[in-house]
Amino acid sequence: MKLVFLGPPGAGKGTQAEKVVSRYGVAHISTGDMLRSAIAAKTEMGAKAAEYIKNGQLVPDDVVIGIVRDRLAQDDLEKGFLLDGFPRTVAQAEALDTMTDLDAAILLDVDLEQLIARIAGRRVCKDCAATLHVSSLQGDRCPHCGGELIQRADDREETVRARIDVYLMQTLPLVEYYKGKKLLRSVNGAGSVEEVFQSIQQVLKEFE
Ligand code: AP5
Ligand code: MG
Repeated sequence: MKLVFLGPPGAGKGTQAEKVVSRYGVAHISTGDMLRSAIAAKTEMGAKAAEYIKNGQLVPDDVVIGIVRDRLAQDDLEKGFLLDGFPRTVAQAEALDTMTDLDAAILLDVDLEQLIARIAGRRVCKDCAATLHVSSLQGDRCPHCGGELIQRADDREETVRARIDVYLMQTLPLVEYYKGKKLLRSVNGAGSVEEVFQSIQQVLKEFE
């Protein structure tokens, strides 16, 4: 399966990716996670990316396209991959088309008002990187590994609004792009995590 997740910040791409990966064995390729790892490792690329991410702006196309090209060249993709957060511009989508043939682009469709509440309550485990929400947490440690829970640096409300604007301006055109290629599958992302995963599994039946 060669898949792309499309959807605004907070739509649940990372949350659903964890479930798709454990059910289908595809590789999870999240450009956001890769950029945050580069920042944590204090690489030169990480230092450049940090400025953009902090302000809710997109990292330049050539940087992210390079990261994805290198990742898709690795040899652990026998079962396929799920791209989460890439492509985000038409230029990135066109570059991806030169690297591989996709099976589907799955849009997680969620009302914009819901996104702020989801992101404001998001916590990420520092140790196992699990994505959680305060509404379902008991205590302040990760329920999976006991690790420390942190808030992402770009999850302040002001930055989230900038990220949503960037999504509407630069990423939303990809919905038409993939519709035109007959690859778009739209899933209602507003239900519970399990309900959304059920809908995604319906879509993926086509490719099993
Ligand atoms: P990235 O890390 O990709 O962030 P994003 O697209 O803004 O999306 P998020 O990770 O915020 O949301 P998500 O859809 O994964 O939601 P989640 O599952 O966590 O990018 C960050 C930055 O990196 C960008 O701003 C940019 O600067 C840079 N970047 C990355 N890729 C790039 C690219 N290709 N080009 C240029 N720059 C790039 O869920 C959110 C919360 O909601 C969680 O708390 C979760 O528990 C909760 N939740 C999830 N599903 C549900 C549900 N069904 N019901 C209730 N709560 C739910
Ligand atoms: Mg994410």
